Amino acid sequence: MAGDDEEMIVTPWEVAGRIDYSRLIKEFGTQPITKDLLKRIEKHAGTLHLQLRRGLFFSHRDLDWILDMYESGIRFVLYTGRGPSGPVHIGHMIPWIFTKHLQDVFGSKLYFQMTDDEKFLINPDFTLEKTRNFAYDNALDVIAVGFDAKKTKIIMDVEDAEIIYRIALKVAKKITFSTIKAAFGLTESSNIGIIFFPAIQAVPCFLESELTGENVPCLIPAAIDQDPYWRITRDVAPKLGYFKPAQIHCKFLPGLGKGGKMSASMPETCIFTTDPPEVVERKIWNAFTGGKPTIKEHKLHGGDPSICPVYYYDYYLFEEDDDKLNETYMKCRNGELLCGDHKIMLAEKVKKFLKEHQKKREKAKDKLDDYLFKKK
Ligand code: TRP
Repeated sequence: MAGDDEEMIVTPWEVAGRIDYSRLIKEFGTQPITKDLLKRIEKHAGTLHLQLRRGLFFSHRDLDWILDMYESGIRFVLYTGRGPSGPVHIGHMIPWIFTKHLQDVFGSKLYFQMTDDEKFLINPDFTLEKTRNFAYDNALDVIAVGFDAKKTKIIMDVEDAEIIYRIALKVAKKITFSTIKAAFGLTESSNIGIIFFPAIQAVPCFLESELTGENVPCLIPAAIDQDPYWRITRDVAPKLGYFKPAQIHCKFLPGLGKGGKMSASMPETCIFTTDPPEVVERKIWNAFTGGKPTIKEHKLHGGDPSICPVYYYDYYLFEEDDDKLNETYMKCRNGELLCGDHKIMLAEKVKKFLKEHQKKREKAKDKLDDYLFKKK
């Protein structure tokens, strides 16, 4: 399991170790989200979304420029996506929930890319049928988030190839192998599909421009591990006559174990969107916490919320109310709140969230066609 003492690794295909987000900003050359920027967003949104208020979205590129454009009357499109390699868990949903908020606030069109091709190429055991099935399954979770059907298009990479391939070719022609090799840590033995793939992931940045013949700015909300894709896409953009895509980056949701991000490969530390209530209870009950080994010690010395997934989930997703969150923090620190009680409280909130989500997910089965880029 990814422990705290492991070396930090953040690539599109691997995240491990204790993540130092300030270091990532420096290494990736992105910008921190400043108070001024938050104020500008708040002006448009009326309020600051939990994920901004609590610093879950922490870094960006050209977000100030996107706002300048918007304020001068130029609309932008949103773009995010998912690599369909298994069932969706609540960590995946963080940027989607935020993207829906941005769509509501700015009225933007959204392109959502399902990279069934990427996951097929990366995973030696996956067939194209398998990743396609995951893509359609995962699309239900995307739709359940509540995006505006009139303004949202889900791209299925393999099935929509006739639209995206042309544009991918234009992008690919401007990228050298050595650039891709360095940015993604590829080697001589990497398969050639994965060398070409970054051109495919770049396409939705330019899709609106290509389809309308205008130069339309694009903002990508995504976890920071996707950054190498955008670095390359930004270099290509001016060569094709387009604006560089802007980004807003989020952190990773930790798993229920000790350290490490939530990962479907460790199902017991991971809350899937389709988990039934008793499974959610069990997983949360078995979670690692920042509590002391005995109740006596816990009451005496208090717990440590800074290492506690149970607290993180309140912080990142499930406790909207800042006062209540602070109370939980204080009561944990001073030992008044026992981990068992906190787990029960969290499990109730997660179950409530999933019950709603699962209802919407069921309904999404009838709505799929409204969202697909190419109707079936
Ligand atoms: N490569 C991403 C993944 O493996 C999927 C993806 C494609 C994506 N386009 C995106 C993610 C845009 C965020 C934003 O999950």
